[in-house]
Amino acid sequence: MAQRESWATRTGFILAAVGSAVGLGNIWRFPYQVGEYGGAAFLVVYLLLIAFVGFPVMLVEFSIGRYTERNPVGALKQIGKGISSKIGWVFVVAGFVILSYYSVVAGWILQYIVIGLQGNYAASGAATQFGATTGGLPSVLTHAIFMAAVIGIVALGIQDGIELSVKLMVPAIIALLVGLAVYAGTLSGAGDAYAYYLSPDLGAIASNWTEILPAAAAQAFFTLSLGMGVMITYASYLGEDRNLAKDGAIIVGLDTLIAFIAGLVAFPVLFTANLTETTDGPGFIFVSLSEAFSSIPFGGILGAVFFATVAIAALSSAISIMEVVVSYLIDEHGIARVPAVTALGIAIFLVGVPVAYDQSGSLVWLTVYDGLANQILLILGGLLLAIFVGWVQTDLGLEELSKGFRNLGSWGMVWIWTLRIPVIVLLLVVLWYNASNVYESLVGIFG
Ligand code: TRP
Repeated sequence: MAQRESWATRTGFILAAVGSAVGLGNIWRFPYQVGEYGGAAFLVVYLLLIAFVGFPVMLVEFSIGRYTERNPVGALKQIGKGISSKIGWVFVVAGFVILSYYSVVAGWILQYIVIGLQGNYAASGAATQFGATTGGLPSVLTHAIFMAAVIGIVALGIQDGIELSVKLMVPAIIALLVGLAVYAGTLSGAGDAYAYYLSPDLGAIASNWTEILPAAAAQAFFTLSLGMGVMITYASYLGEDRNLAKDGAIIVGLDTLIAFIAGLVAFPVLFTANLTETTDGPGFIFVSLSEAFSSIPFGGILGAVFFATVAIAALSSAISIMEVVVSYLIDEHGIARVPAVTALGIAIFLVGVPVAYDQSGSLVWLTVYDGLANQILLILGGLLLAIFVGWVQTDLGLEELSKGFRNLGSWGMVWIWTLRIPVIVLLLVVLWYNASNVYESLVGIFG
């Protein structure tokens, strides 16, 4: 069998993981979640969950990946016992669903780059324009274009495809977003926007926590690419000498910083255009934000740059989801990379077609896919992994975490005990609420 691939450099791994983490979650999903769940109040809960749940679960994925040096399905087959050896399958299913709708949304982003370059945001009314973008053949076509780009990069392999492309994409995302945030800071609505974004109403958290907590947890998992084996897969291409906790902290820190900066772009633009009602959900950047772009100086170009940044971020994330399923076919079935990627890419494209073609006008299929994958499967995946390393394979986790440390001291047990009780209890609560929310929205749609 051919030698298994690996990263060429340490920065290659970090950039790939950051590229995976930073995506639509940061720039498309994060601002509308903040808007929907009360501004800064949501931000506070989200930051706590990133630090005390997201970070420990990321270390779980890293340690499993590096210990086994296999894809997530194979990794759990190797170290799991009984039912726990099957956990990897949750990831493969989640990967199919997530990538299929992720690519559809990314396709809309591509259309909005073109609209901006033509200087046409909100030309026919922002909501009508978004309606014309989603659904029907154009949406299927842009979904296909995006999937083709994903296939192209992943087909080139770890070093020549993923690693090389993220070395270009991640610095570009950061530079573009910072530039946009600086410009947004000069707009007239910036002051009010910062106040909304940065001063939390703690009373709102207390009275609304059954909504804020589950939403913030789902967002934390999504934005860090957790619960789906991406970080298992990426760490499986990693050498023994790395300090997983240190790399993890860099990755979590950068992802959080970039989501935060995306808010520093979105809210000043909105407030300047006097659009303070940001409750339009998944349409947020397409409807409210593009309408705002249509009314500020240089809005067309600015919008095109903004959507191009989002497109790059989406691409560097999408390749990580694809790599999970591809690594499974390569490791477990000995299929060569190029045919594996091509076949999967086509299959995932097809799974996404209902979301892309959807002409309901209310994004029914997007809601279904996002609800299932993001609010249920990811949380379930994370929960199972936390139980697994917290209670079943504790020594394995501790051994991996201590590599690259001169002296881990009692931090290892702090980590294990964080997983054992707080993380597990919290994820169970979140899963319960999310499942009932998803159930209700399904009944609302179909029943
Ligand atoms: N983290 C990415 C984002 O914020 C999306 C993503 C990539 C993802 N890989 C994932 C989400 C795996 C969940 C699981 O857009």
